[in-house]
Amino acid sequence: MKSYLFLGILCFCFFNCKKQTSEHIAITPDIIPIPLEEEIKEGTFILSENTSIIGDAKFNTVINYLKSYTKDQLLLNTNTTSNSKNKITFSIDNQIKHEEGYILNIEKESITIKSKTDKGAFYAVQSLLQLLPVKNEAKEIPIQCLTIKDEPRFQYRGMHLDVARHFYSVDFIKKYIDIIASLKYNTFHWHLTEDQGWRIEIKKYPKLQEIAAFRDETLIGHYNDQPQQFDGKKYGGYYTQEQIKDIVKYASERFVTIIPEIEMPGHSQAAIAAYPELGCTGKPVKVATNWGVFDEVYCPSETTFKFLEDVIDEVVELFPGKYIHIGGDEAPKTKWKSSEFCQKLIREKNLKDEEGLQSYFITRMEKYINSKGKQIIGWDEILEGGLAPNATVMSWRGTEGAVKAAKEKHNVILTPTSHCYFDYYQSENENEPLAIGGFLPLEKVYNFNPIPKELTKDEAKYVLGAQGNVWTEYMETSDKVEYMTFPRAIALSEVLWSSENRKKYVNFTSRLLTFQQRFNKKDINYANHLYEIKGELLDQNGKLTYKLSTKDNQKVMYTVDGSLPTYTTANTYVNPIHINSLTTLKAKVFSETGDEISPLFSTKINLHKAVGKKIELSPEPHASYNAGGKNALINGIYGSNKRYGDKEWLGFSGKDVNITIDLDSLTPINSIKMRFHNGNGQWIYAPKKVKIDFVAYSNEKTNLDFIPVKNRDSLLCNLNVKFKDIKASKVHINIPNYGMIPEGKQGVGHKAWTFIDEIIIN
Ligand code: ACM
Repeated sequence: MKSYLFLGILCFCFFNCKKQTSEHIAITPDIIPIPLEEEIKEGTFILSENTSIIGDAKFNTVINYLKSYTKDQLLLNTNTTSNSKNKITFSIDNQIKHEEGYILNIEKESITIKSKTDKGAFYAVQSLLQLLPVKNEAKEIPIQCLTIKDEPRFQYRGMHLDVARHFYSVDFIKKYIDIIASLKYNTFHWHLTEDQGWRIEIKKYPKLQEIAAFRDETLIGHYNDQPQQFDGKKYGGYYTQEQIKDIVKYASERFVTIIPEIEMPGHSQAAIAAYPELGCTGKPVKVATNWGVFDEVYCPSETTFKFLEDVIDEVVELFPGKYIHIGGDEAPKTKWKSSEFCQKLIREKNLKDEEGLQSYFITRMEKYINSKGKQIIGWDEILEGGLAPNATVMSWRGTEGAVKAAKEKHNVILTPTSHCYFDYYQSENENEPLAIGGFLPLEKVYNFNPIPKELTKDEAKYVLGAQGNVWTEYMETSDKVEYMTFPRAIALSEVLWSSENRKKYVNFTSRLLTFQQRFNKKDINYANHLYEIKGELLDQNGKLTYKLSTKDNQKVMYTVDGSLPTYTTANTYVNPIHINSLTTLKAKVFSETGDEISPLFSTKINLHKAVGKKIELSPEPHASYNAGGKNALINGIYGSNKRYGDKEWLGFSGKDVNITIDLDSLTPINSIKMRFHNGNGQWIYAPKKVKIDFVAYSNEKTNLDFIPVKNRDSLLCNLNVKFKDIKASKVHINIPNYGMIPEGKQGVGHKAWTFIDEIIIN
């Protein structure tokens, strides 16, 4: 009797526990990009070695992909027979309108995937994979029952990679394609040729491999560093045609089309180094070792056209997609202006000017590429001088190019620097790895709308989609590429795939937390600024405190003595921290178990005499460089020593700046320091001189002259003026603009920018 009772309890427990594992362990759906419609149902499907994966032969690529995934990643050899009760079935459904759409239905006994095409089925599988646990050792995996009906918002969903500034292995290119495919991107824009290297094997032109694929050395540090330094090491490489075929096949199995970019007429110095006859002077040049825009461009001669047509002949054999990208951006006309040949051609062809000649160049190449059954894409400069008849425009310098092209009934792809340049900084943290400049945080990417508001509904139909660009001047390794690309490309995937009315950013970031674990498993070096600490100096009637905050009010721990915060020694942040002397504040976010989950936040607060006082500025700073407002100049916090895009620096374009600081009462002044940015590569120049006047002052000297700004060779230019026995209630500072940017520098002929950070009065 006793033993029956025991057995009964055991049976009850066994069935109940089994129910527990199957019913309750299935993970919550956290799919990125979020599907159009998702209905969660009762119960779970159990994926196991009893599951068979079957379906229409049309879906064989996808079925094999899913089988390999379950075998390699989940260590499950799914059932090879089709009579199993527990199955995943793929079937064609022509009722589904969208070519890439799908319906994924998960029930207790079966999973059905319906789509019109195998692309749709592949995207259903990508959603299904995100319903599986991140870590698996079990032989039975519960999957939440649900129904998803899904389709993309945009037909063009692209990610770009520049392999010319830095070169990456075939394995990495495959990894990159794998990741973007899992995010439902369908296009990889492969930027293969540049001033600094030619990376695609062209059999007819062996010197492209021998000469153009290698540079003598590479710039180290930032372009703006003065003096610039080079590593003295030969650098380069190229992809063989066999490797390219292998990558194209790999991509096609993931429904990713590759668009190769062969730049013309600019960004072509490497090819001209190999074949000087392609340039306008015929003189030898070297493969570029520095970054920037170069005067050496193709000459629009018959020799060049023959070369480019031969190149295109080999390129079209390798890439089955419909598009060839021909670049067209940043092609200075200096050489064309001084070339007798080009000037004669302009007259002969009755062209307006050098822009007309560029249009002639692109149109002629378009005709050739069209004759091969392909279409061209070009950067928005191809609009200048007249757009080639069938071209698609990639709008990168803002959205104006997209608006103009769509109004001219041309297809457009949006890649504006403001939202799609993943080579820009993603955090204002001083400790971020070196990047080209700019500032593009995750949330801004997430909130991007690829349809410019200037377009009517009909014109908006010409917007095919958008693309994230990854220019790699500052990405020496594939790890760095991953850091810069993700998670911003994850946010963009949702912009491109999900409905315009998708969930808000907070919902995205909560799903991103799960996604990060998937990325950990795949060993992807993504950036994590989710819990980044934000700091703010508060001034309550002269009492200064410093506020720290994070997303979701995480546990912040800090120190004020310059030491690194650790879980055991640092203070736990509760209320704003009192600041009454020079303070170095360092903070980090820790999890409940003591793991660091944020980058280090550090700031130095220098309580000088202008902090918390009133300031007037004329003119206003430029809207793009005014994040901290005018008080940023006297808040006791220094902007970055390396960058000018944070909220401490104020930028003024081409104008003289006048500043008045009101110190309230007669205040003794011993020194005034000012910090100017001097990033000449970015058109930023410290002023040559500054004038300081005092209002309501008393001192020995009355008439102060302009003070020259010296030590102008570094990225930061500091002015430090000392005074004796001066008392003043107001300080007036006049900062004349540097003036025109000189010959030989980036931005020549434009007026310089002035960037000012802290004005320190002691
Ligand atoms: C570009 O960023 N030059 C297209």
